[in-house]
Order: sequence, then structure tokens, then C-alpha cells
Amino acid sequence: MQASLFGQQLTLMEELKASTSTAHARLQTAPFFQALAGCQLPLESYVGQLRAILAIHVVVEQASAHCVDDRVRSVWSADMRKLPLLRKDLQYFEPRTVADLKEAVDVALQATNALRQQSIEAPLAILGWLYVLEGSTLCASVLQPLVARAFLLRGDDGMAYLRNDGAAARYRWAEYSQRMNTLALETGERAQITQAANELFARLEALFRALYPFQQESKAYLAASINPEAGRHPVPDDARELQASVRAGDICWHRFPYFAARYGERGLGFARSDAAWQATLYPYPPAQVLQQVQWLGRVLSARGMPTLLLQVQLEILVEELASAIPERRAGYEKLLPAAAALHAARSRFLTDAQTQELAAAFDLAVGPEWRARFPHTGTLLSAAVADECGGCEKAVDSLRTWMADPRHFPAAWIDAVELTLAQARQQAAPKAKA
Ligand code: HEM
Repeated sequence: MQASLFGQQLTLMEELKASTSTAHARLQTAPFFQALAGCQLPLESYVGQLRAILAIHVVVEQASAHCVDDRVRSVWSADMRKLPLLRKDLQYFEPRTVADLKEAVDVALQATNALRQQSIEAPLAILGWLYVLEGSTLCASVLQPLVARAFLLRGDDGMAYLRNDGAAARYRWAEYSQRMNTLALETGERAQITQAANELFARLEALFRALYPFQQESKAYLAASINPEAGRHPVPDDARELQASVRAGDICWHRFPYFAARYGERGLGFARSDAAWQATLYPYPPAQVLQQVQWLGRVLSARGMPTLLLQVQLEILVEELASAIPERRAGYEKLLPAAAALHAARSRFLTDAQTQELAAAFDLAVGPEWRARFPHTGTLLSAAVADECGGCEKAVDSLRTWMADPRHFPAAWIDAVELTLAQARQQAAPKAKA
């Protein structure tokens, strides 16, 4: 049954507006918004909100674009993407190394876990969430001037997500409403969508209440402060170490353009938060450090990042940490044996000389243009083969899936990838059997 007002049937958008109006009004009473209007909102609350909303958008945008239900995909449109704007805002605040608020990170994590699960079990819920998130862009005209005044911001600085592009926003909203209102929905499906919208409103209300007011003790550096998707695994509680970890992640990221091409901005976030986690390891006994690094090495290698990358990242991290706090250099250098162990594990199967030869032959085969685009590819392929021989079964396949994908690369490149893998395996296999 469709809801009706004075005998007239409501459109889906009208029904969503009517059924969430109480939740919207309640959300507006959260102390966060009063503090914002009174220029009393701490920066941690505003930045914490950006991080949490980004984590939610990661799930919702991904789930919308790849949903099994084509009605969801027909509503989703690339112009609804907010991730680039949220990332831009967080980048603006990066130099200030703003702390996380533990309770807010927990609420955001619970929300993202629940949304991820529900997007698989009941995909139509995504339409309810899109309504809430897209609708919230209409509030930007109210919120943006308050944020600008409270934090003395100008232009798009730290407020790209709230940017109010007036007529364009209205046009997008009208188009989006049209797509929603023309969906073919079965009995009961509308209720599913409005319920999902109300559930997200409730989660957002809990989030805004956790963001402000907060106890001073709830301030901490958590992984979310540098990568909102990473949640709350340990990171250094010293801002200098945290910044050094971010730099190490960035340097490694730029040294291997493969990262950016394959994993995009999301990968950069993880390069940083992984480096920050590694930076917490140095006070532990060497055997424990080694165990943790080897564990992470296996996890990453099985996902297309051979242990060579972790080794290089650790080496860069030690340098960045030591240049930030020189008096702790000896402590940070305790991470180096773990990096050396990753190298030694691969060298059992392919020596440095063999790897260099394979890499040079690869570069020659693909030519200068592709070599410049993706430097170190031959080395990465060889490293994946050595990881595979060392017991990481998926190391090669997870790298090859992307490296030999005709959507990204010409035939000559793919031939070179296959040849390098075959030759590396030929050289490494006898040692693996021995
Ligand atoms: C994250 C928090 C918020 C969310 C998720 C949210 C969500 C929404 C949604 C879904 C709509 C669309 C309603 C419709 O026409 O169907 C909307 C509209 C609106 N919201 Fe919010 N809202 C939030 C916070 C706020 C706050 C704090 C204010 C004011 C202080 C506000 C003011 C408005 C206004 C004025 C509209 C109507 C815009 C228009 O039609 O031109 N919202 N909001």
C-alpha cells in the first residue's frame, strides 16, 4: 500500500520526507548544531564529523555503484559522489593533526559495519540511505556559513563537502527525485526504503551526539584520524610520529605509482594508517615486531602488494621518524631487522642480482613510456614470485589480475608480465623445492 495524503498517493520522495521529518527535526536538536551556531564547536567535532561521514560514504557509494539490484544502480549517479569533496576537506585540516573522539569513531564503525552487511542482505535499503545523504546536501546552505564563521574558513577551504552550488544542487536534487519517483517497487518495498532512511537518521543522530559534547579523555589519535576507513587500530600518540608516518606512507605511495593506479585515494589512506600502525611497534621485543610485520606482509602480499612494498615502507618510515625525533633514532631502528627479514625471505628464492636482471629485461620489453608510467614493475613481479615460493599462495595471482588486465595495458605489456613471471618462477622454483 502506498501512503496517501488527503486521498492522493504520495510519491516515494514525498513519503520519505514525511516519514523522516520527525527524525530530521530531532537530529537538528543535537547540541553539535547549537554549538556550531554559537561558534563553540571544537575543531575535533567538525573534523570528526567529516571523517565519520566519509567512512559512511565509502560504504554507500561503493554499494550503490555495484548493487545487484539494478533499480539501485539506476538511481545512483556519479554526480552524487561526495568522497572527493570529503577527502579534499580532510586534506585541508591534515597539517593540524586533529585528534579523534573515541566514542564517535565507535559509532561510525558500528554504522559502517551495519550498512555494509545490510547492503548485501537487503540492497534496497541503499535507496533510503541515498535519500538521507543526498538530502543533507540541501542543508548545506544553512550549515556552510555557520562552519565558515566558526572556524574562520574561506572559499572551499575545509568546506568543499558543504559547498552550495545553488541552482546546480537544485537541479541534481530534481533529477535524483525523478529517478526515485519512477522506480517500480513491489508491495512492502517502500516501507523497506523508508525504514532504512529512518535507521540512518538514528545512526547520524547518535554520531552527532557523540561528536559533541565530549569528555577530554575521549580525545585520542586513532587510525581514523589519518584514514577514516581504518577505524581505531593503534597509531602513535605523539603527533610528530603520526605526521612522520603519514609522510612515510606518502613517499612510498609516490615511489610506486602502481599503488595510485590500482588502489586510488583509498589506498593512500591505508598506506598512511598502516605506516602509523608500524610506527607503534618499535617498543616491542624484536621477535614480536618480526611476527607482526611478517603477518602484515602476508596479508598485503595476498592482496596484490608484495612484501617488497612493506619492506621499503618500513625503511622509509624509520628515516622519517628519526628525522622527526632524532633522539629516538635507536628505538626506531629496531624496525629495520624486520624489514631485512622480509628481504631475506625473498632472497632465498631470487637473489638481488636475479631480480635486477628480470626487472631490466621487463623495462626493456615494455619500452621507456610504460617504464616511466610504472617504474619497478619487474621488481614487484619478481617479489611476488618469491613471496609465492615462500608460502603466500595468492601473491602472484593477486598482482597479475591487475597487471595483466587488457583494460589497463597493451598486449606487449601483458606479454612482458607473463614472461617475467614465468622466468622468475623458473629461477625460483628449484630453490622452493630444495
Ligand atoms: C547530518 C545531518 C542532516 C541530515 C542527514 C539532513 C537530511 C536532510 C534531508 C534528507 C533533507 C531533504 C528533505 C526533503 O525535502 O525530502 C533535508 C532538508 C533540509 N534540511 Fe537537513 N539534514 C541534516 C541537518 C540539518 C540541519 C542541522 C539543518 C538546519 C540547522 C537542516 C536544515 C534543512 C533544511 C532547511 C532543509 C530543506 C532544504 C530545502 O528544501 O531547500 N538540516 N535535510
